[in-house]
Amino acid sequence: MAITENPPLDHEEEKLSDECKKLLLSLPKEKGWRTLHLFQFQGFWCQSTEIQSILAFQNHFQTSDSDIVLASIPKSGTTWLKALTFAIVNRRHFAVSKSHPLLTSNPHDLVPFLEYKLYANNPLPDLSKFPEPRLFGTHIPYPSLSTIKKSNCKIVYICRNPFDTFVSSWHFINKVKPQSQAPISLDEAFDMYCKGIVGFGPFWEHMLGYWKESLNRPDNVLFLKYEDMKENGVFQLKKLANFLGFPFSLEEERGGEIEEIAKLCGFQNMKKLEVNRSGKSIKNFENKNLFRKAEVGDWMNYLTPNMVERLSKVLEEKLGGSGLKFNVLP
Ligand code: A3P
Repeated sequence: MAITENPPLDHEEEKLSDECKKLLLSLPKEKGWRTLHLFQFQGFWCQSTEIQSILAFQNHFQTSDSDIVLASIPKSGTTWLKALTFAIVNRRHFAVSKSHPLLTSNPHDLVPFLEYKLYANNPLPDLSKFPEPRLFGTHIPYPSLSTIKKSNCKIVYICRNPFDTFVSSWHFINKVKPQSQAPISLDEAFDMYCKGIVGFGPFWEHMLGYWKESLNRPDNVLFLKYEDMKENGVFQLKKLANFLGFPFSLEEERGGEIEEIAKLCGFQNMKKLEVNRSGKSIKNFENKNLFRKAEVGDWMNYLTPNMVERLSKVLEEKLGGSGLKFNVLP
């Protein structure tokens, strides 16, 4: 039967390869937050275009042991982690000065996403010009990382408490959705979030995949928390630099290098840069939407007591016993 005879694909989905379209027709699907559908693919919920690029990545990406992969579920501090890692790893080439690349490039251009940039619309991107260590970003869950998880490369996962991540996601989706589309209500988004139906969710599975691996292979997987980084940036930066194999020397520490990197990559500085107020670095999303409030506990301004109770129960049920905890929750 010709694939076009199968009915329920939207116009984005129609542009995909026949192989991908065929696959989509066999996958469970739900209404998306911003797109017509989210598909359950390899155990997680994602958009059709992401599935095509993840398949290309899985089929073609060759990992090198020197690679550094920055992983997260959306709205957990990905942009921040990319900026910090780029600054740490490249500090011999780029001192924190007026001409630092982070002052003129968005972190997502310096550390490209595997699925949104490199393998989006191209099954064989040319990665030969990447300087070593190559830095990549991804939202792909750990079990689907293909050759990356079999290699000796370094993976850093940034995790944020699900209450703030939800609120951040809700704001972001409503900012980047097409104008012609009605916004998704807080209630509807929250219900889907608690059921795990959110990009790259269920969020608890995403977190646990990396969490468990960080316990099993601590030399290869570092698990960072957004809230810890807000609270004690210098300590977390040292930890990150040590893990990556780019430790700060005593001289650098005394010279205030860590504080300088923290300041360069800090929210207030990043948000005000022209490059981050204009332009688009991920898909057709405006960079300015990547920088909102960056506060811990902003969920208190949005969630009702019933919502707090419901999400707390989800966390207890799904994360209880794993050792993964968040200090900032009710
Ligand atoms: P809020 O919506 O709560 O403000 P991601 O980068 O994964 O998309 O995450 C986006 C969240 O990180 C947003 O949270 C955004 O404001 C915050 N953020 C962006 N840059 C940051 C930075 N340099 N430091 C701390 N938080 C940052």
